[in-house]
Amino acid sequence: MKPSLFKNWFRKTPPATFDVRLPNGLFLQVAFVTAAHASRFTAGYEHLSEQSRRMRFFGQISSLSSKQLVFLTQPDGRNHIAYAALNLANPAEPGVGVARAIRLDADSKIAEVALTILDAYQHQGAGLLLHAAVHVHAAAVGIEQFLYDVSPENPRFIQHLLALGAVRVSQDHDIVRLRLQVTAKPEQIRATTPAAKRFAERLRAVSMAVPARVSAA
Ligand SMILES: CC(C)(COP(=O)(O)OP(=O)(O)OC[C@H]1O[C@@H](n2cnc3c(N)ncnc32)[C@H](O)[C@@H]1OP(=O)(O)O)[C@@H](O)C(=O)NCCC(=O)NCCS
Repeated sequence: MKPSLFKNWFRKTPPATFDVRLPNGLFLQVAFVTAAHASRFTAGYEHLSEQSRRMRFFGQISSLSSKQLVFLTQPDGRNHIAYAALNLANPAEPGVGVARAIRLDADSKIAEVALTILDAYQHQGAGLLLHAAVHVHAAAVGIEQFLYDVSPENPRFIQHLLALGAVRVSQDHDIVRLRLQVTAKPEQIRATTPAAKRFAERLRAVSMAVPARVSAA
C-alpha cells in the first residue's frame, strides 16, 4: 500500500493544524499542542482572570511551574490529547484557549477533560470548537467517555454540559463531576438542545477540516 493511502485510510484524528472561522467571524487556527507552544501557555496563564483560573485549576496557582508547563505542552496523542487555538487576525497574542483530555490510566477508555478559554475570547464559540476537536481525536484513539470536574460556582458551564447530554456523576461542595459519551460524528448527537445542535456543527467543522497551509504558532 502506498504510504499516502495508508495515512488517509487511518487518519481519523483532526489535522495537526487547521483553520476554522467561527459563526461570529473570528478566524482561528487550531493546533495539536506541542512543546513549541510553551511560551504561549506561560503568557496565556498571565492573561487569565483570577476567576477563570479558579474555575479551571480550582486552587490558587500564581503561575505555571516548569514541570506543569512540560506536562501541559507535551501531550502524546493517545493518553493525553490537547488542542489550542489562536486568533489568525492577531497571532502574536498568546492565544485563545486550550482543551485537553487525559486518560485515567493507560488501559482506560475514560478520560478527564479540561477547557480554558482566555477571558477576552469567552462566549464566542472557541470553547465548543476545541471541545469538539478533543472529542474527534479521543474517539479515534479509543476513548469512550469523558469526565468533567466543574466548580459548583460555574452553573453556566454545568448547564452547557447537561445540554450536550452529560449526566451528573457526583457532587460535593467543591466539585460537580459530569460524564459525557465521546462523540466524533455529528449524526451521533442525540440531544436536541440548541447547544447540542451547535456542538454537532462544530464536530462537522472539525471532521471536515483540512491541514492548514501555514502554521501561525
Ligand atoms: C467554560 C469555558 C471553557 C467556555 O468556553 P467559551 O469559549 O467561553 O464557550 P463557548 O462560547 O464555546 O460556549 C460554550 C458554552 O460555554 C458557556 N460559557 C461561555 N462563557 C462562559 C463562562 N465565562 N463561564 C461559564 N460558561 C461559559 C456558554 O454559555 C456555552 O453554553 P451554551 O451554548 O449552552 O449557552 C470558558 O468560559 C472558560 O475557559 N472558563 C474558565 C475555565 C472553566 O470554567 N473551565 C471549565 C471547567 S474545565
